[in-house]
Amino acid sequence: MKYVPRLGVLVSGRGSNLQAILDAIKSGTLDASVEVVISDKPGVPALSRVEKSKAVVVDRAAYPSAKDFEEVIASKLERRQVGLVILAGFMRILSSAFVGRFAGRIVNIHPSLLPSFPGLRAQRQALEYGVKISGCTVHLVDESLDGGPILAQAAVPVLPGDTEETLSERILKEEHQLLPKVIREFARTD
Ligand code: GAR
Repeated sequence: MKYVPRLGVLVSGRGSNLQAILDAIKSGTLDASVEVVISDKPGVPALSRVEKSKAVVVDRAAYPSAKDFEEVIASKLERRQVGLVILAGFMRILSSAFVGRFAGRIVNIHPSLLPSFPGLRAQRQALEYGVKISGCTVHLVDESLDGGPILAQAAVPVLPGDTEETLSERILKEEHQLLPKVIREFARTD
């Protein structure tokens, strides 16, 4: 049976991966709908990539605990009947309670070949380590930092003279292909 995923996209910043999803939907290469975009910070560029009714801020600073913060996010996702939660540059670890509530339906993109270089500034970590190949990973989310079963990866070379910026840009191009591709697979298999 055809399944068109209703997406909830969690963001913390620029939102170029969100844009890649929106572009793929618009061009007809991805059969999905973005129902809501939730940012843990106000005023980030990602929020202005969708119409106002779909852009929601759940400011972590406004909640006394991570539990309260996650409860608000989860109820907003459920209210819009989201079937698949996409972490597209969402820079927080989710609790096992949240992960359990959307079991097997949370997907993250990370700019390294996991399990290498989880966490912040993965591209800089790769450069500092001296690897010759890096890339990006899309994986199902568990409660660990950038952890969970790997769904897909794309590799890029690390070139002599690369900076954090040039490597990030090369990886980002691959991220923008890989994330819509994985979502497309969900649409096919469910
Ligand atoms: C992307 O490179 C994404 O892989 C990374 O943040 C960036 C967000 O860019 N995510 C992580 O590092 C998660 N640990 P975007 O806001 O332009 O999509």
